[in-house]
Formats: sequence, C-alpha cells, structure tokens
Amino acid sequence: MILVTGGTGYIGSHTVVELQNAGYRVVIVDNLSNSNIEVLDGIRRITGIRPEFVEADCTDMVAMKALFDRYPGIKGIINFAASKAVGESVEKPVLYYRNNLNTLMNLLDLMPEYGVKGIVFSSSCTVYGEPDENPVTEQAPIKKATSPYGNTKQISEEIITDVINSGAPFKSVILRYFNPVGAHPSAEIGELPNGVPQNLIPYLTQTAIGIRKELSVFGDDYDTPDGSCIRDFINVVDLAKAHVKAVGRMLEDKSEAKIEIFNLGTGVGLSVKELIASFERATGVKVPHRIVGRRPGDIEKVWANPEYANNVLGWKAEASVDDTMRSAWAWQCRLRERGIM
Ligand code: NAD
Ligand code: WQD
Repeated sequence: MILVTGGTGYIGSHTVVELQNAGYRVVIVDNLSNSNIEVLDGIRRITGIRPEFVEADCTDMVAMKALFDRYPGIKGIINFAASKAVGESVEKPVLYYRNNLNTLMNLLDLMPEYGVKGIVFSSSCTVYGEPDENPVTEQAPIKKATSPYGNTKQISEEIITDVINSGAPFKSVILRYFNPVGAHPSAEIGELPNGVPQNLIPYLTQTAIGIRKELSVFGDDYDTPDGSCIRDFINVVDLAKAHVKAVGRMLEDKSEAKIEIFNLGTGVGLSVKELIASFERATGVKVPHRIVGRRPGDIEKVWANPEYANNVLGWKAEASVDDTMRSAWAWQCRLRERGIM
C-alpha cells in the first residue's frame, strides 16, 4: 500500500489515478486545506476504485501515528502535502516553514517505526533559481531561494539527504518538477485554484471562459526570442506517471543508491506567448491578453534536461502541448458545467 499525502490536491489526485491503474492500493491523507473531498469521486469515476481517505493534518503527529496503526501495510510514501503559493509564503513565512517542514519530518520520523521502505518527495525547479545554463541538469547549482516557499523545498531536500546519510533504513527519490499543467483527459480531475489564480494556465483558462477580463503577460522585454519568459510546461498526467516509476524503483530495490534526484520536464522550453498561441490553436478559443510590466522575482528562462529521468527512471514526457491545452480547457468547461466556476 502507498500513502499519498496531499492526494486530493492537483498533482496528488492525478498520481493516485496512475498508481491505482498500475495496481497499487492507495491511502490518501489530506487536510483539505487546498482541495476538495469530491476529488475522490473523480478518481473513482476514472479508475473504478475509491481510494482509502483519511482527513488529517500531516503536521499532527498523533493523527499520523493513528493512520499508520490503521493501515499497517504502508510500504511507500509520496509526500505532496505542502503549502505552495509563492506570494503567500512571503507574507506568512512561519506558516510555510511549519507546514512544509513538519509534515516531512513527521513522516521521516515514523517511517522506520512502521517499516516504510521509501519516500518520494515533491521538489521543484525553483531550487535552480535563474539557471546559468539551459537545459538544466540535476547537477546545476542550487541558488539561494527567493521565497520562503522555495526555501522549504531546498531545506526539505537537505533534511532528506541528512536523514538518509545518517543510515536511515529507507530510500528516497526527490523529484524536481518544472511547470505542471493540464488535467486528466477525462476532465474528471484537474487544478482547482483558490481565489484569483497566480499561475499562468488557470488564469488563462479562466480568462478564456470569461471569469477574468484579460490575461496579463508579465513582460515581453526579456532576453528570449519573443521577449516573454520561457518555461518547461509538463503535462500533469505525464508527471503523475513518473511517480509510479519512482515508487516501483524504490520498493523493488532497482537501485543501489539510497537517495536519487530527478528532473521532471519535457526538455522543451516554451515561451508564455507560444503557450497562449498553442491554447488558441488547440481549442479554437481566443484568450484576450495584454503585455504588462515584468512580475518581480520571475525567472527569465528555465527548462529541464530530463535525460537522467528518461534513461534511469525509464520515464519520458509524452503529451503534446496542444493536447495538454485541450485538457486544461476541457477541465475549465467541466467546472462551469458543474457550476463551480
Ligand atoms: P495542491 O495544493 O493542489 O496539493 C497539495 C495538497 O496537500 C492539497 O490537497 C492540500 O489540501 C494538502 N495539504 C497541504 N498541507 C497539508 C497538511 N499539513 N496535511 C495534510 N494535507 C495537506 O498542490 P500541487 O500543485 O498538487 O502540489 C503538490 C506538491 O508538488 C507540493 O509539495 C508542491 O509544492 C509541489 N510542486 C508543485 C508545483 C506546481 O506548480 N503545482 C511545482 C513544483 C512542486
Ligand atoms: C509562468 C510564466 C509568468 C501568470 C511557479 C513557482 C514555482 C513552481 C511553479 C512550485 C511566468 C507568466 C503567469 C500570469 C503571466 N511551483 N505569467 N501572466 O512562475 O514559473 O513558477 O510555479 O514549486 O516555484 O514560482 O509559474 O505559472 O506563475 O508563471 O504572464 O497571469 O507565466 O511571468 O513567466 P512560475 P507561473
């Protein structure tokens, strides 16, 4: 059995689907601080299986012990549970450090006691900051974090490394995601941002459906071919499948290494303007947009070298950008049909 913390969230829910499709039994723990219990029905409609669910806060050690007592068969953990809004983390740093770090430390503490063999951790390309070179390999230097959120990812990676190096009786895989976008092709699950979206794709789809008047493109005077920023937009289902590979690798002892780090991206950098064009081409829907000033703190360009994941994990991003954009749009339309937004 696999424990998925934050499993009703955006990336977690897609990963639970892929784990169940691959035959794993799953128990989700989530405090529903940034997700909805109805996600479980979406997962059931896709896979035919409603995963076990425990509503609890991972920073609550008593509740976590009770969970492990109730499900003694947990062999692996995927730790998605975290607060993830960069701007909010600047305003409420203690909340971010407490939530993201205590969640991880509770799990690391409990794993030996309950015989858990491995933990997969959700890290981020944010650890590379503005990289010196693109595409970025796992060996690229870690840059000083520009937000408390980013710092929690760096510190978490260090905590895991120290714990593994201390001789802990389990393994870890750290996955550095680039920019996850899109939704399950069934439109049963997807991203559900709280309030005004800060990320590009939810803002874009909300603009396309008329919730927002226009999308602001933050800067077109960057040193890139069309002047807008470049990112590596990775389809969320592809990303989810990488977790299944990582769990298998850890639990089947396919590697001697006790800790491994993988970049998860497509290897292709796409500009903000190119992404808008792809959305319009793929869906036939126009996105009103306007160039405005740069957003403070934005990275100019970053995209992954995913070769290590391709060769060692045996995983490769497959979805086309146009298909990913269609999936994001289908999800936005489903939210409208359901009267959610
Ligand atoms: P999300 O907010 O949709 O999912 C996180 C889930 O964790 C939510 O369901 C939330 O309710 C839950 N949660 C938060 N704190 C908890 C706690 N203390 N106890 C129990 N549940 C808790 O976010 P996501 O986009 O799915 O991100 C998943 C992970 O991937 C996070 O660790 C995030 O930092 C990381 N990540 C996300 C991105 C991205 O762009 N989405 C990029 C890189 C890394
Ligand atoms: C993408 C591009 C914006 C909104 C963030 C976190 C990072 C990681 C991924 C978790 C940028 C531009 C955006 C808008 C725009 N998360 N944009 N108009 O900034 O790459 O990364 O999410 O680990 O830590 O910082 O993602 O989606 O916010 O922006 O022009 O309304 O879209 O300037 O170039 P970002 P994003």
